[in-house]
Amino acid sequence: MPRTVLFHELGGPEVLQLEDVPINEPGPGELRIRVEAIGLNRAEALFRAGAYIYRPVLPSARLGYEAAGIVDAVGAGVTDFAPGDPVSTVPAFLMTEYGTYGEQIVIPASAVVHRPETVDAVTGAALWMAYTTGYGLLVEIGGIRPGDTVLVTAASSSVGLAAIQIANHLGAVPIATTRTAAKKQRLLDAGASHVITTDDEDLVDRVRSLTGGRGVDLAVDPIAGPSLSTLVQAVAPDGGLIVYGFLDPNPIPLPVAPDFAGRNTRTFIFSEVTLNEARLHRAKHFIQAGLRAGSLAPVVSRTFDLAAIGKAHHYLESNDQFGKIIVTVP
Ligand SMILES: NC(=O)c1ccc[n+]([C@@H]2O[C@H](COP(=O)([O-])OP(=O)(O)OC[C@H]3O[C@@H](n4cnc5c(N)ncnc54)[C@H](OP(=O)(O)O)[C@@H]3O)[C@@H](O)[C@H]2O)c1
Repeated sequence: MPRTVLFHELGGPEVLQLEDVPINEPGPGELRIRVEAIGLNRAEALFRAGAYIYRPVLPSARLGYEAAGIVDAVGAGVTDFAPGDPVSTVPAFLMTEYGTYGEQIVIPASAVVHRPETVDAVTGAALWMAYTTGYGLLVEIGGIRPGDTVLVTAASSSVGLAAIQIANHLGAVPIATTRTAAKKQRLLDAGASHVITTDDEDLVDRVRSLTGGRGVDLAVDPIAGPSLSTLVQAVAPDGGLIVYGFLDPNPIPLPVAPDFAGRNTRTFIFSEVTLNEARLHRAKHFIQAGLRAGSLAPVVSRTFDLAAIGKAHHYLESNDQFGKIIVTVP
């Protein structure tokens, strides 16, 4: 019987259990994948703890948005895929309905993409959350143009590194933030034009000196919390700010910045791309073109075996990572 990660109560990484669970035949519009690699996201740690934007249904909750593997069965009406196809999942479903943490998974065909032979399973599991989010933030919503400056906060995250690559791919200038100097050189090596260490540098002063006093054209931020009041001051008067996460659980003091009124501010969630047929079509072409050109390439921080799923979640929450955490399925 294939092993699947389940949790029966909310809590820390220790609630994740690897269990033998019978796997269904895929239903209409679904397919079954023999999983080779699973991509981890902060969303899943929040979901496991009951702190995500929707809550798990307990007991026997599944989790996971990203995986790569080989199709082993297709349900009625699925014409684009056949057994033996290498594929990746795209986060276009709710974890209350499907999950990717398992040796075999059933998933809607609408949330699956073909994986070219040149893309191995680890890369295929690291791509689709970070790059559909980065694409949505910078291209679909942010509308960045060559020469624009883009402030990428928490830049060592998987989305942050994808955003740096996407900005460079489009000829924009990525300015990265990290809290300490520990990851500074790696961010420069990963393509950041400039790195600001927010624990010991003044974010607004640095951004203004890097942008001729103007501020950035776009800031993309998964931190939120009290630092948002500072961040808005680093954005140009005609620039934009997109908040897409809440790594800092502390409340955002309101009003954030009264003088920011009229500037282009919004939140963003990846499903604005992955559940929108036209945007997802563009995202797939953009990401696949970037992979072929070599300008988009996920940074993998560390891999774990499926049996060490608890350790992998501990590492995810340690904030020591630089890029994506992957779980491999032997
Ligand atoms: N809206 C969406 O559609 C969407 C999609 C994907 C992810 N997200 C969100 O994006 C964020 C990153 O997710 P991920 O899985 O890519 O990355 P991740 O691996 O969880 O990113 C962790 C990095 O964020 C920084 N960080 C953590 N806590 C922080 C805090 N309190 N203040 C400042 N920086 C902090 C740390 O970098 P340093 O140690 O270098 O400072 C850390 O290495 C999460 O909030 C996630 O929920 C949102």
